[in-house]
Amino acid sequence: MIVAVDGHAASGKGTVAKAIAQRFDLPYLDTGLLYRAVAVKMLTEGIDLSDEKAAALAAATAEPGAIEEARLRSREAGEAASIVSAHPAVRRALLDRQRRFADQAGGAVLDGRDIGTVIAPHADVKLFVTASVAERARRRALELEAAGQPVHLAEMEADLAARDRRDSSRASAPLKPAEDAVLLDTSHLSREESVAKAIRIVEESGARP
Ligand code: DC
Repeated sequence: MIVAVDGHAASGKGTVAKAIAQRFDLPYLDTGLLYRAVAVKMLTEGIDLSDEKAAALAAATAEPGAIEEARLRSREAGEAASIVSAHPAVRRALLDRQRRFADQAGGAVLDGRDIGTVIAPHADVKLFVTASVAERARRRALELEAAGQPVHLAEMEADLAARDRRDSSRASAPLKPAEDAVLLDTSHLSREESVAKAIRIVEESGARP
């Protein structure tokens, strides 16, 4: 069983995808980490993020596991990942790795932006997770505050809105729900309610692990 979980930044798609993987005992891949690893590698080496050729080279060798977790999850890495992920050559360089993961025997859960549309259009279940910008900014600000990096809510909202625009308007594999995706709006749901709803969607899809 392949489960594709796409959606907006800070929508809760990671939480939901991890919970599905655990519930159905499936391997899980956070594909955003691949793009974040490419971005961090370029930032560390002082390479211009707009250099598509250099970005594709970085993508060929980038290893999320080799980078410190906090750096990978930082706001700076997320912003930079959104920029490098718009390069078609970067997306091509990361395609095989993701497809192999999706198509492994026994199934998998992948979360990202283009899993249901490009990486695994044949997925058995597709979820598109979203929430209002205000709610996503509130959650992300709380997370950052807990990690000792307080941010202004208005600034966070502007960041997320800019990221949504960039991810949705790029020519190569833009963020958009697959036609056969089930929409899950978590704006008014708690973490537990979001997870319960997502698991019910998988169960009701008729797909079997
Ligand atoms: O999900 P995230 O915040 O870790 O993703 C960081 C950026 O990477 C996101 O703004 C767009 C890009 N991304 C992508 O283009 N395709 C994916 N499958 C996953 C992430």
